[in-house]
Amino acid sequence: MQSFSFPFLLICMISLAISVSGEDPYRFFDWNITYGDIYPLGVRQQGILINGQFPGPNIFSVTNDNLIINVHNSLPEPFLISWNGVQQRKNSWEDGVCGTTCPIPPGRNFTYKLQVKDQIGSFFYFPSLEFHKAAGGFGGLKVVSRPRIPVPFPTPAGDYTILIGDWYKSNHTSLKSRLDRGKMLPTPDAILVNGRGPNGASFTMDQGKTYRLRISNVGLQNSLNIRIQGHLMKLVEVEGTHTQQNSYSSLDVHVGQSYSVLVTADQPSQDYYIVVSTRFGRKYILTTAILRYSNSNRAASGPLPGGPTEVIWSLNQARSIRTNLTASGPRPNPQGSYHYGLVQTVRTIRLANSAGQINGKQRYAVNSVSFVPTDTPLKLLDFFKVGGFRIGSIQDYPTGSKEYLDTSVMAADFRDFVEIVFENNEGIMQSWHMDGYSFFVVGMDGKQWSPASRKGYNLRDAVSRCTVQVYPRSWTAVYVALDNVGLWNIRSEFWARRYLGQQFYMRVYSPVESIRDEYPIPINARLCGKVADRHTRPL
Ligand SMILES: *[C@@H]1O[C@H](CO)[C@@H](O)[C@H](O)[C@H]1NC(C)=O
Ligand SMILES: *[C@@H]1O[C@H](CO)[C@@H](O)[C@H](O)[C@H]1NC(C)=O
Ligand SMILES: *[C@@H]1O[C@H](CO)[C@@H](O)[C@H](O)[C@H]1NC(C)=O
Ligand SMILES: *[C@@H]1O[C@H](CO)[C@@H](O)[C@H](O)[C@H]1NC(C)=O
Repeated sequence: MQSFSFPFLLICMISLAISVSGEDPYRFFDWNITYGDIYPLGVRQQGILINGQFPGPNIFSVTNDNLIINVHNSLPEPFLISWNGVQQRKNSWEDGVCGTTCPIPPGRNFTYKLQVKDQIGSFFYFPSLEFHKAAGGFGGLKVVSRPRIPVPFPTPAGDYTILIGDWYKSNHTSLKSRLDRGKMLPTPDAILVNGRGPNGASFTMDQGKTYRLRISNVGLQNSLNIRIQGHLMKLVEVEGTHTQQNSYSSLDVHVGQSYSVLVTADQPSQDYYIVVSTRFGRKYILTTAILRYSNSNRAASGPLPGGPTEVIWSLNQARSIRTNLTASGPRPNPQGSYHYGLVQTVRTIRLANSAGQINGKQRYAVNSVSFVPTDTPLKLLDFFKVGGFRIGSIQDYPTGSKEYLDTSVMAADFRDFVEIVFENNEGIMQSWHMDGYSFFVVGMDGKQWSPASRKGYNLRDAVSRCTVQVYPRSWTAVYVALDNVGLWNIRSEFWARRYLGQQFYMRVYSPVESIRDEYPIPINARLCGKVADRHTRPL
């Protein structure tokens, strides 16, 4: 009988894991993260630049591409980037949040190895530590279909990434120290479009042609409405799902969300205003960018198109966003061939957000637990079996108890099909994101959720996405197939709320512990804190 040593077997398994994705093309990126001067509102600010750019470069990729991104941290403090919407199948190691990945120390680098496996669509990346997101370091990330997979609309004449978001004149350190002192954030000073202030961003179109705009809200808290003077936007894709192609005169984009629309330059030749304004906020803030016809010699003028004001308008728009069941997604078969509405859910998780004071400071919580990070990523504590956190430290339902601090990790079984209900009993908008997954948004409505609410679910053509809004004193229900082993961050996209505890991790676990279900720890994984002296491979 032949016997193999453990390292030998491990090497075989690693080669197997690598060869699985070895068929697919590689794209290499070398990024240098620095501080630099930016002037989005005309006054000097300290921004986080990637290769000298603010916002960072947009990543172009094709379904199944491997993205090898070497991030050099030239900031004087630790840094990490995370990938909003990139599912990183079997690979939460690369997620780039503090629960999964050690920070890149100043002057050092880390090479992310991501694969946009079985994905299409519009996403973005952002810096995940501290309050870095308030200073830049974000950019667009698009995944286009492979050449032979049909896309349900003619190839557009151009493809523009439009990153919209609220913005502060205060720098990220002063915003963060405000939160650390237990205070809330002030209202933002402005809205930026691709890192620029009023009329700083422009998009050129040839008259008569149709363009794709990929719009992401990369801001810190405000839901935004976008509209274009004289033009309709035909919605075609939401975070990786091809939608029924409805036309909208304006679109609500909540924090962390991404939408693709088609715009046809079918108006008289001149320039037009693109208007982006806040929704549901205490203060109304508005900015403009320019849609430029290439043959135009007239500047944009005239009254700006007004935006919606009612919450119900937004709820109705959200409900009108449906999956085109016959269109292809990342694979040639129609998106509707997975009948999620026929799958029995085995578990209901109800997540209620709340705000409260803990030790005299403002905090935010999920089912009463206000998340506190550990100095060592939970994923590494788990892998090296070091302990230091408790699986099951957050309940499946609101307990109604007073908010308290803990490192909340929820246990979940690989392949379970679960219902998650986000319950918002507060009077402000919420936006929730789940790393590693897309979920079907089966329902949303006002007041309290109850089992009877299921009667109104859309079990046919709900859109599958990774970030969903919850209206004030309302609920949103999603279905998710837990088919991605790993440790995944579930968070508020309101950055101050996330920073002050409105997040937790879900540990999707398979007792088989096979590399078929989860990749081994990356050879180049940085180790830190309690596991700093360990090794990613046996010596
Ligand atoms: C990053 O940029 C800084 C400032 O320009 C430079 O000093 C440093 O050498 C660069 N690092 C890398 C790895 O390119
Ligand atoms: C850091 O970058 C170098 C090349 O500049 C690369 O060889 C090395 O693997 C990177 N380190 C990590 C941890 O990814
Ligand atoms: C759905 O996709 C199909 C297939 O590409 C397309 O023919 C049809 O027009 C689309 N329907 C809607 C409502 O967008
Ligand atoms: C950030 O803002 C604070 C308060 O205005 C200021 O003291 C600090 O110097 C600023 N930091 C940088 C790096 O500009």
